[in-house]
Amino acid sequence: MQTIHDAAALRAAIRAWRVQGQSIGFVPTMGNLHAGHLALVQLARARAERVVASIFVNPTQFGPDEDFARYPRTLERDQAGLASAGCDLLFAPTVEVMYPFGPANTARVAVPEVTATLEGAHRTGHFDGVATVVVKLFNLVQPDLAVFGQKDWQQMLVVRRLVRDLALPLEIIAAPTVREADGLALSSRNQYLDADQRARAAEIHATLLAMRTAHLGGQPRTQVETEALTRLRATGFDPDYAVIRRGVDLAVPADTEHGGLIALIAARLGTTRLIDNLPFDGG
Ligand code: PAF
Repeated sequence: MQTIHDAAALRAAIRAWRVQGQSIGFVPTMGNLHAGHLALVQLARARAERVVASIFVNPTQFGPDEDFARYPRTLERDQAGLASAGCDLLFAPTVEVMYPFGPANTARVAVPEVTATLEGAHRTGHFDGVATVVVKLFNLVQPDLAVFGQKDWQQMLVVRRLVRDLALPLEIIAAPTVREADGLALSSRNQYLDADQRARAAEIHATLLAMRTAHLGGQPRTQVETEALTRLRATGFDPDYAVIRRGVDLAVPADTEHGGLIALIAARLGTTRLIDNLPFDGG
C-alpha cells in the first residue's frame, strides 16, 4: 500500500488506474482506525478493483469546544491496518493541501433539510464541514463508489443528498455498524472513556433495543423517547436526544407510520459524546 500526501501525486496514481480501466472504491476516514473502519475497506475491496482510503482530521467539522486538538492521530498503526484490509492507496493530506486558503476561508458546501435536526442542531456547522471535505475528497479521488458507516446515519443521509443534488458520479454504499460484544458501537471516541464509563457505555445500545421493542410493541413514540432519556440519565449519561425518526429523512414520523423507522441517541458520558442508532428493520 502506498501513502500519498499531496494532490498531484494522488491524481497521477488515480490516472494510472483509470487508464487501465480499473474501478475505484473509496473510504474516507479521520484515522485512529478500528475494526469498523476496516470493514468499510473490506466492503470497498469486494466492490471495486482498487481501494483508496483517506485519513484527514478535518478541522471544519469540529466546533470550537470539540475534540479537534486531542483527536487521536495514529498514522503508522492505521497504515498497517489498512494494508491488511486490502487498501491499495492511503491519501493522508495536510491541512494546507485540503484548505489552501485556510479552513476559515474555504469555499463551503451546505446541504439543506436533513442537516437541520439532531447532529446538525447540536453541532452547528458540523455538516457544512463534512459536506465540504467530502466533496473535495471525491473530486480528488474520483471514485466509482464510496463506503460510509451506518453508525453515522445522518452523515450518510447528508452524503447521499449531496451526491444527488450535485449529480456527483459515484455510488454511496452504507455499511452496517460494527459493535463490541456488549453492543457498544465501535468509535474512535470510545478510547476517551475510563473503565467505569466504558462499562456503562453499552447502555446506549441497550436503550436503543428497548426503544425498538417498546415501539414495535405499541408504545407511543413520545413515551418511548421520554423513557429512553430517563434510562440514559439513570446510567449517568447527559443525553442530547433519544428519538424515533423516519430513517429516510429523519422527519418525525406520523403516529400511523411504522415502516422504515430508526431510533437515534446522542449522549455524553463525562466529556465524551457518543452517538448510535438502530434501524428498526435492520437498515
Ligand atoms: O466519518 C468521518 O470519519 C468523517 O466525518 C469523514 C466522512 C471522513 C469526513 O471528514
